[in-house]
Amino acid sequence: EDLGVVAVGFSGGQCKEGVDAAPSALIESGLLTQLRDELGYNLHGHDTVHLYTDLVPESDPDYRNMKNPRAVSSVTRRIASQTYEHASKGRLVLTLGGDHSIAVGTIAGTAKGIRERLGREMAVIWVDAHADINTPETSGSGNIHGMPVAFLTGLAKDDNEEFFGWIQDDMRISVRKLVYIGLRDVDPGEKRILRENGIKAFSMFDIDRYGIGRVMEMALAHIGNDTPIHLSFDVDALDPMWAPSTGTPVRGGLTLREGDYICECVHETGSLVAVDLVEVNPKLAPVEDVGAHETVRAGCSIVRCALGESLL
Ligand code: ARG
Ligand code: MN
Ligand code: MN
Ligand code: MN
Repeated sequence: EDLGVVAVGFSGGQCKEGVDAAPSALIESGLLTQLRDELGYNLHGHDTVHLYTDLVPESDPDYRNMKNPRAVSSVTRRIASQTYEHASKGRLVLTLGGDHSIAVGTIAGTAKGIRERLGREMAVIWVDAHADINTPETSGSGNIHGMPVAFLTGLAKDDNEEFFGWIQDDMRISVRKLVYIGLRDVDPGEKRILRENGIKAFSMFDIDRYGIGRVMEMALAHIGNDTPIHLSFDVDALDPMWAPSTGTPVRGGLTLREGDYICECVHETGSLVAVDLVEVNPKLAPVEDVGAHETVRAGCSIVRCALGESLL
């Protein structure tokens, strides 16, 4: 099977340095060779870690409360054309971030490619401690990694191309085809948005109540059979015990095994069209360098499970 890889060394969707170093750390730890040699993928686009420095302007003042708005808009626009390119050629798309703002690009491009190729609307499974569905107006931080879902669903829009106005209808996803798993740190404005739009969300409460097995059955049932699925996995969905090196850790998260299980179930559907792994920050290592190494290892495991590694 053909795998289109987009390695995104970009951190402008939030304020901490280091998430841009994640793709190299993941690749150096052997992820792509394993995908090729052990899982048998034909890799495309894997030779470069994209830094997009040509797209980051010298001066980028806040706009509608968003930080680095021009940089994030133009970088995600470029990412969208990269994932579109892969998806429209029928490749499974793997994006290694980068902070979660990059999902504006990965999902916009894949959604468009899948619409063109299969004439189908794509579903998104967003695995995260956070909902990342703030609009520029509801966001307290102004960090765009807390907003990608709002732009992708059209809950947030702007007319200006410089500020995500490039996102067209065929790049958007429906709130009905969006499912969250792992939520535990959702802002008040986001809770209102989830409620008012009837968005399906399985929080840590649901995982404790039903167990991850039933949660995955319910999540996949909501999406429906035979719908192309884009999996966007924020490593902070995992408990900081397994993934401490991330910018916005929240205690009380998924075990690594639960994270892997989510990915195995999505792979098992046969409907996976794209995977993002984001928010690994190897430069944030609470416990010396052990934290970074463990987080990179956890990230690799998540990706391998999504791409079909099985226990037996
Ligand atoms: N809700 C907070 C915000 O909007 C945190 C978002 C964290 N997002 C992430 N992708 N880690 O700023
Ligand atoms: Mn998160
Ligand atoms: Mn996120
Ligand atoms: Mn397979």
